[in-house]
Parts: sequence; structure tokens; C-alpha cells
Amino acid sequence: MDRLHINGGVSLEGEIRIAGAKNSALPILAAGLLTAEPLQVCNMPHLVDITTMLELLGCMGVQRVVDERMNVQIDSSTIRNLKAPYELVRTMRASILVLGPLLARHGRAEVALPGGCAIGSRPVNQHVAALRSMGASIEVENGYIRAEVEGRLKAAHVFMDVVTVTGTENVMMAASLADGQTIIENAAREPEIVDLADCLNRMGADIKGQGSNTMVINGVEELHGCSFAVMPDRIETGTYLIAAAATRGHVKVKDTCPQTLEAVLRKLEQAGASLRVGEDSIELDMRGRRPRSVSLRTSPYPAFPTDMQAQFTALNAVAAGTGSITETVFENRFMHVHEMNRMGANIRVEGNTVIVEGVESLKGAPVMATDLRASASLIIAGLVSQGETTVDRIYHIDRGYECIEEKLQSLGARISRVPVRSG
Ligand code: UD1
Repeated sequence: MDRLHINGGVSLEGEIRIAGAKNSALPILAAGLLTAEPLQVCNMPHLVDITTMLELLGCMGVQRVVDERMNVQIDSSTIRNLKAPYELVRTMRASILVLGPLLARHGRAEVALPGGCAIGSRPVNQHVAALRSMGASIEVENGYIRAEVEGRLKAAHVFMDVVTVTGTENVMMAASLADGQTIIENAAREPEIVDLADCLNRMGADIKGQGSNTMVINGVEELHGCSFAVMPDRIETGTYLIAAAATRGHVKVKDTCPQTLEAVLRKLEQAGASLRVGEDSIELDMRGRRPRSVSLRTSPYPAFPTDMQAQFTALNAVAAGTGSITETVFENRFMHVHEMNRMGANIRVEGNTVIVEGVESLKGAPVMATDLRASASLIIAGLVSQGETTVDRIYHIDRGYECIEEKLQSLGARISRVPVRSG
């Protein structure tokens, strides 16, 4: 298990390239199960979650070929096993994304109930209810979801009680091969949903309304292979911009998609950042100034993303003034707060809101990462601290950030990865 050592106090300066989006690549890899033809996925980020998804597909008998440009080809014509075992699913909640495709194309699936980030209770009842309404019989027993359907799934009018990203994706994939027209109401509108719909349509699906809260999917008899490049990672983009703002730096992120970051860019401007937005780049300059506190509330897209609130908490921790951050998507997503307070931050939790009173600077300390985005926020806190911070349990960060220490080093940060021997 590795640990990150950070010597804070450096303003980030320079340019980095943004990787492909984890939350887009994962459902698109699962979509490879919907066809017997090869699906080529390009702009794939190098992340542990991607390796986990490839391993999961591999244990089902799907062939995976990675070429010299790191494009991945999925060939599910060789599939022989329709089970997603607990050992893999427990490390990555997004494994649930194989449920819809397996059921739609093979009529059967057995998927362990997911684990993933320790951020409150994260049920999958919406996935199960929607697939049941499409004719699947589903039982949950011994920690497994066992699903089957006689013949094809049937189209349905699906109303999601809560906006769920992977829930919407599971239904989209299942409905692509179902018999008739499926309508998803209260669908998630995240850009990754649009990316998946674009990929499925290129595979021959008939999906309309992606990006709005009502999607209409006309099922087709079969899907075929294609080549598809996943969109840039908006959460990675936002994380580096927030790190630049918190350290009073000047950073340009390239190969990104600024339109997917509206809510985050507005908050960075409120924090005092000057932004120059290009077609596929964003340049942020703090001109050496201390950021101002911002207040925000998380909600499904296009509102402010839950995956970025922990990073803004780190920024507020050293900003001028007091800011409040309200989390409405997940319960229990404030585990980073106690670690930041150990670094000298002044943050208190009141229900689902944190009130952050900015201090001049934090002090380095040993801290522990608890989930993916909390890890990113602790790294930002380390970058704005005086002295040394060590971040333990960084396997969380490797799930979602490609080469984070190399990218931060290239921006001037003093950060290194140190292996920790057990025993
Ligand atoms: C996805 C993202 C994750 C992000 C989250 C919210 C992927 C792989 N992960 O996670 O990074 O933080 O969206 O933007 O894309 N819920 C139910 N029943 C369900 C499903 C969800 O009650 O069946 C609730 C959850 O507990 C949560 C809310 O709905 O409170 C949103 O969760 P959801 O959108 O499903 O998150 P994920 O798709 O798991």
C-alpha cells in the first residue's frame, strides 16, 4: 500500500492534459456486453477502476485487447459466465453496470450487491425496480442480485424516484435491446449519460432525449461494434482547477470539455479566479491572490456536482471569509472534514452542511483518505499546508485520478509516492 508525501506551500503553475472520464469509460465498457462484435474504446484513462472493470469482463470470458495507444477492444462473443463476483464488485460499485446489458442480451445475470466508496448508504433499488418493470424476475439473496427474463426484455415507462446516474445507464443499456419503446422519466442528465447514449447510438441503438430528464429509447434487435472515444473527465478537470485556485496559482488544463463544468467554473470565479475558456481548454489564474470563500449546494447535473464538494471544502479552508457547503446527493460524505481539522482547518458539520471558516494557512499532518473525492481534497489541503503532509490509503485516489503525483509534480508541486511495507 502506498502513501503520498506532500510538502505544501507551492503555487501550482503550468499545463496538464486531462484524461478520459472514468464515469463515462465504465458504462461504455459495460456496453461492450450488448454486442457480439468488437467495441473499441479510445481515450481510456489509466485507472484502477478501469482495470477492475476489464478484470470483471475478463472473468466472464470477454476478450480484451489493449493496443499500443492504450485503446481497449472488447469482444464479448466469447462470453461464457454471466456472474459478477463479490471479490470484484466490492471494490467498485460501478460493477452494477453489467446487470442491464447481461440481462438484455443473455437473459440472465448474477451480480453481487455493490460496495465502492464508503459514502453513506448507496442502494440499487431503482435499478432493480426498473428492470423488473421491463419483465425481469429479480431476487436478492445471499448478497447477490439474481435476474432473469424469458425471451427479450419488454419496453416500459420507467419513472425514477431519485435521479440516479448508473441507474439511468443500466436502464438505457437494457432498453436498447428491449422489445418496444421505453421512456425514462426523471432520468439523470449528466454529460456521461450523453456520452453513453452517443456510443450506444453509434452501435445501432435508437436513443433520444439524452441530456434532458426524459429519454425515449426504441429497442432494436441487435447492436454492432464501433470505435468510440470517451469524453474528457470533468471531475479531474475541476479538481486541478480547484488545486490551482487554492494554491493561488496559474494553471491551464487541456483536452477538456469546458461546457460540462459550468457550475464549477462559476464557483471558481466567485472565489476570485480569472478564467480563460477555450474550445477544449481552461486557464485559471489567481494572480497570487488568496481565494474568497464560496457557498454551494450539490445536486444532480447541471447543478454543482457532489464529486467536487470535498475539493471546494479544502479551498474554503484557506479562503478569506466563511462558506457553507451543503450535500444533498449522498449521506455521510464529510469524512474529509475531520482530517482537515487535524491540519488546522476550522470546519464544523451541521446536518448535511459544513460551515468552513477560512484560516490563513493549514499545517501539514498525517491524514487518511476515506473515499475517492475525499482523497483528492486531502491532497489539495496538503498542497496549501505548511510543512509535510502524508496521505495514507491512497488506493482510493488511484481508482479515479490518473498519475496524480506526476501531473501535480509537472505543475511544481512537491509530492511523491512512497511504498509502505506491511508487517
Ligand atoms: C454516480 C457516479 C459517482 C457520483 C454519483 C452522483 C459513476 C460510476 N459514479 O454514482 O461518481 O458521485 O453518480 O453524481 O458514474 N440511489 C437510490 N437508489 C438507487 C440508486 C441510487 O436511492 O437505486 C440514491 C443514492 O443513494 C444517492 C443518489 O441516489 O443518494 C444518487 O446516486 P447515483 O446517481 O445512483 O450514484 P451512482 O450512479 O452510484
